[in-house]
Amino acid sequence: MRKYSLFAVAALFLAAFVAHAQRFQRPAPAWAHAAWMNQSLSAGERADLVLKQMTLDEKIGMIHGEGMAGWGQPNAFAYLGNGGAGFTLGVDRLGIPIIQMSDAAYGVRSSAMNGRYSTALPSNLGASSSWDTDAACEYGALIGRELRAQGYNMTLGGGVNITREPRNGRTFEYQGEDPILAGTLVGNRIRCEQAQHVIGDIKHYAVNDQESGRNEVNAIISKRALQETDLMAFHIGIEIGNPQAVMCSYNAINGDFACENKYTLTDVLRKQWGFKGFVLSDWGGTHSTEKASAAGLDNEEPGQVFYGEAYKQAVESGKIPMSELDEHVRRILRAEFAAGLVDHPVHKSVVDVFGDLAIARHIEEQSIVLLRNEHHQLPLNASAVKTIAVIGDHADSGMLSGGGSAQVDPPGHHQARWGEHVWFPTSPLKAIQAMAPNAQVSFDAGSDPQAAATLAAKADVALVFVNQWTSEGMDLNDLTLANNQDGLVEAVAKANPHTVVVVESGTVVTMPWVDQVSGIVEAWYAGSDGAAALANVLFGKVNPSAKLTVTFPLSVADLPHPTLVKPPAHSEGAAPVQRHVLTSPTFSVNYDEGIEVGYKWYDAQKKPVLFPFGYGLSYTTYSYSGLKVTPGAKPTVSFTVKNTGSRAGVEIAEVYAALPPSANEPPKRLVGWSRVTLNPGESKQVTVSIDPMYLSIFDEASNVFKLVPGSYGFMVGGSSQSLPLHKSVTLE
Ligand code: BGC
Repeated sequence: MRKYSLFAVAALFLAAFVAHAQRFQRPAPAWAHAAWMNQSLSAGERADLVLKQMTLDEKIGMIHGEGMAGWGQPNAFAYLGNGGAGFTLGVDRLGIPIIQMSDAAYGVRSSAMNGRYSTALPSNLGASSSWDTDAACEYGALIGRELRAQGYNMTLGGGVNITREPRNGRTFEYQGEDPILAGTLVGNRIRCEQAQHVIGDIKHYAVNDQESGRNEVNAIISKRALQETDLMAFHIGIEIGNPQAVMCSYNAINGDFACENKYTLTDVLRKQWGFKGFVLSDWGGTHSTEKASAAGLDNEEPGQVFYGEAYKQAVESGKIPMSELDEHVRRILRAEFAAGLVDHPVHKSVVDVFGDLAIARHIEEQSIVLLRNEHHQLPLNASAVKTIAVIGDHADSGMLSGGGSAQVDPPGHHQARWGEHVWFPTSPLKAIQAMAPNAQVSFDAGSDPQAAATLAAKADVALVFVNQWTSEGMDLNDLTLANNQDGLVEAVAKANPHTVVVVESGTVVTMPWVDQVSGIVEAWYAGSDGAAALANVLFGKVNPSAKLTVTFPLSVADLPHPTLVKPPAHSEGAAPVQRHVLTSPTFSVNYDEGIEVGYKWYDAQKKPVLFPFGYGLSYTTYSYSGLKVTPGAKPTVSFTVKNTGSRAGVEIAEVYAALPPSANEPPKRLVGWSRVTLNPGESKQVTVSIDPMYLSIFDEASNVFKLVPGSYGFMVGGSSQSLPLHKSVTLE
């Protein structure tokens, strides 16, 4: 026996040695010692060296995608794909990898298709409510790691279209209505995502602010409003995150499609901001060869209608100079070096399921906004509460997620179909029961409001779960909860004075019952471990600290455009691959509210709202005092925040500025914030320094941002409508 096992051990050693030696002897690829593999050179220098070696066909191969499953174009290279939304060829003989792209808004998409697992984080809008740059970083790093584990080296996440139109079906993929906050958060997400050696992406550039008719709509907006709102978010995101890719959007901006718009792609992105990465089109968002190329589009996705054979012919016939093609290729190569794709090749691996669930839960805990809490209804006391009625669609089994290309597949689920409502298997009922093991927790799906009310009447507290499903490719007609959920809340609230509503929504909702319930908790799309996070907040294990990054209006009648502008009827249902045949947009949305986006609109128009931007309650209370403003090249604002309650908490302290009247701006804008952690009774002095650009306006005549000399009012407090501290200073 002993002899045999010794023999087996010896054989194993021998096998391992042979395998090792073989690996050792495998000839190094020719490029391994090529000049561009020298890591001490800059990404640009390395790109130049590679470019010199490339043939015309290799160059053309890099400026377009190789198709996407189901997209329509036959493709000889399909076998090289990784199941993502698209890929672009590398140059194997030169050591340049294929760029494998996956959607990854709140987690890696289509994991069911590639047989792998992805964590769903809370929706981007949800997570933005944390106002936390560290959480944004964790969010990005998690996605970057999971992308690589699944064989991808480029993300298509990083959406930052500001919430100009809250009915936009993709609002959940973005970071709210304020450009400075949104840009800062997306920038931190991208910074940490790209640090995982995947190409980072920011999208959809720009003014893709509604989904209705997105392939053919012309967004009309003044240059100043464009610069101070939608573009500002991108600018800040690019400065902080340094993404190597920008995805141009489907829509047109002031007449030219975004993927052939010289103003946004070259004048602003490259010249004004100095962006060095590459621009890829949204899927089917390319409309031309020469015009797009000259305007600054580097890469057509997902196919090669304009940037394949047609591009090659344009170069060969001299319509497009070789130098222009070289510039596109150079940017793509440079991005690959800069993001580390060449030096850190991807190897598939296993996702850290439990570690990443914990991150998703922690981020959701910071994202849940407590909107109403009459008579300290919350937190629930786990040892005192005897009966809890849990009511609402799926509240026993799962929590909702957002649809479209952002969709993440739950574990063990099939690949989600377009339009399918996907619930993650994180059960609020079970999480609540686990938190209150001695309470009797009962469930009713809420389809019959009277039956639900009967159950609620017998309970100490009723928790009603309402939901709003949203998705790419559609907008909401209004902000009313579907399927008579308002009626359900009203019936339950009538039966039980201790009713708490939990909202799972992609964007804002109207709440005709707001005064009839004792508590409201906005949980957004809560991610893979949302129920545990929610239970921690409901029972006070976590003190909520999140604040709204979108204004909840009282009614759609109060929006800048009470009626959504829809495309002409002909185009509805057109196959996506047909998008490119349009040479010009077919209808317009005139964004004449201009700079007045979100709270700036309600402030300027003096319209009351349901819940203002920056609002969110806590289980403790805070006071503000001692405002000091120090002018200078970078003005600073200092003040003291005190926890005046009996629980530890985190207060998001917000700083707004009112510009001098001659600036002609809305009444105020957010210019800074700080998350302050405070024990009961504790005070902290906080200093926020203000980037002068955040105090500037865009001057159309001179085409630059400038500070208007005069008196600036600084306001500090816990929400855009609760700003106890004021001070004016003169800035030169
Ligand atoms: C979406 C993009 C997405 C792409 C690839 C498009 O329809 O607008 O956000 O990245 O598809 O799936």
